[in-house]
Amino acid sequence: MTVTDLPSSDTKLDLPPLKLGNITVDTPVVLAPMAGITNTAFRRLCREHGGGVFVSEMVTSRALVERTPESMRLISHDPDEQIRSVQLYGVDPETVGKAVRMLVEEDHADHIDLNFGCPVAKVTRRGGGAALPWKLDLFTDIVQTAVREASVGGLPLTIKMRKGIDEDHLTFLEAGRIARDAGVAAVALHGRTANQFYSGKADWDSIARLREALPDIPVLGNGDIWSAEDAIAMVRQTGVDGVVVGRGCQGRPWLFGDLMAAFEGSDTRHRPGMAELAAAVYRHAELLVDTFDDENKALRDIRKHMAWYFKGYVVGGDLRAKLAAVPTLEVLRGLLDQLDMSEGYPGTDAEGPRGRAGSPKRTALPAGWLDNRTVSNTQEAELAGAELDVSGG
Ligand SMILES: Cc1cc2nc3c(=O)[nH]c(=O)nc-3n(C[C@H](O)[C@H](O)[C@H](O)COP(=O)(O)O)c2cc1C
Repeated sequence: MTVTDLPSSDTKLDLPPLKLGNITVDTPVVLAPMAGITNTAFRRLCREHGGGVFVSEMVTSRALVERTPESMRLISHDPDEQIRSVQLYGVDPETVGKAVRMLVEEDHADHIDLNFGCPVAKVTRRGGGAALPWKLDLFTDIVQTAVREASVGGLPLTIKMRKGIDEDHLTFLEAGRIARDAGVAAVALHGRTANQFYSGKADWDSIARLREALPDIPVLGNGDIWSAEDAIAMVRQTGVDGVVVGRGCQGRPWLFGDLMAAFEGSDTRHRPGMAELAAAVYRHAELLVDTFDDENKALRDIRKHMAWYFKGYVVGGDLRAKLAAVPTLEVLRGLLDQLDMSEGYPGTDAEGPRGRAGSPKRTALPAGWLDNRTVSNTQEAELAGAELDVSGG
């Protein structure tokens, strides 16, 4: 038994399909771009359970323009991905423009998202990521250029951002208006500041404020959706047109089935027992082998998913440790076979928060960054380095 009808029926909600430019998304749910997670393998697993938009891991515009092998992998999609969604990160309008043009002219994408939410010190220290919207001139230039290039191919361009740098330096309302005026198809807000990293609780009130401030374009809410009920609660509380789900689906790609059910007004939820869970883990590993075309790399990658998949399930400590260090598909098969396949769904122990949390810390910024809202010459030089060696966030 893997699917349960819950008694509660207070999850019903009548939300229209999400419109992203010329794309209509029946289930208004977006898989949040997550570096190191939302590759073709993981997107396939999510897609098999429910509808929505499934965004790639972010790719830096510079690496894409240079056509590095890794960036070409990052923008690749399976042939049956109906909405090929790519997330770009960039700090230089010209390079971002070139990257968007490349995606359009070479038909690599149906939707492009720009990332303005990365809180990682090595990025913000140079003015990139979540630090960037503070500089209104640069932010405007990047978004306008990207929208212009995307519109040549009729592609919707969206942006994803945080509330700001910290509570005293909030950027989301201004950035949202600038993006709307530039012609973006939607704006997504993660209800945390860069300082918060992934700690504390996402501030859904800020999402409601953005929704109110931008009545004329879709606004998507992001942060701390761990269940279909959370998604419905966010829509009710904020009035958003759709939700963006990240960590909640780590180890639970079937959450997309729950989300689809909930948005359709159904109480049906997916509750995998151990046998189904083990099959899902093995399949994820196999798909990663296809994605990377390298068994060693694929198995190194699946290790980080083990604690998420087995959260709440009875697995001996020794077996857990071996799963977290699994070297080959064959060993994985043998380890999974040691699990008690008769075990049912563990209930709420398998649900709730997982993945990155961290603790709040002051965002590293270039000298004088907060003094004004435009980029100085020195800062422009530093920014060039804000696109090197970036890996999500
Ligand atoms: C491992 C990991 C990688 C991430 N990579 C990206 C990324 O590449 N681009 C991006 O915009 N956000 C990235 N994020 C942020 C998520 O998209 C999302 O905004 C954040 O996790 C909050 O949503 P959640 O509470 O549903 O997880 C990442 C988050 C995690 C945990």
